[in-house]
Amino acid sequence: MSGGPEQAHGSSAGEAAADDTDWDGLQREAIAAMRRAYAPYSHFPVGVAGLVDDGRTVSGCNVENAAYGVGLCAECGMVSELVRTGGGRLTSVYCVGGDGEALMPCGRCRQLLWEHGGPDCRLMTPEGVLRMDEVLPQAFGPDNLEESR
Ligand code: THU
Repeated sequence: MSGGPEQAHGSSAGEAAADDTDWDGLQREAIAAMRRAYAPYSHFPVGVAGLVDDGRTVSGCNVENAAYGVGLCAECGMVSELVRTGGGRLTSVYCVGGDGEALMPCGRCRQLLWEHGGPDCRLMTPEGVLRMDEVLPQAFGPDNLEESR
């Protein structure tokens, strides 16, 4: 296909349409991470890759546990790598399931992405690229803590 990322991935919303993210490359990294998932209980592997504002890429996979409730989502691993490798802001994120297609992050993980990407961070979804403030409206975040200080 000769089109840009917006054409390749269908509809985009708002300002997210204007980005120059290599979404296919990010999807490939997310799939590579997904293939490392440790998901012997759910058999639901997840991988995620994120572009950081300094140009590097971070990724993660889900890591489950015999004590089911302490399993780690893929986004937890990615955010951990983000911080460990120098921090920065996530600008684009692609999360995939076992089929390699876009998977919506769970609510808890949207909160993680909000903390490290904020409202402008772009997220690939089954409906195309959306901004974080579209997938987590009226989010609670660091600004709320400032208000009460
Ligand atoms: N999972 C993630 O890794 N990220 C999400 O955003 C959704 C769910 C994982 C957790 C668990 O290991 C498996 O998917 C099934 O819920």
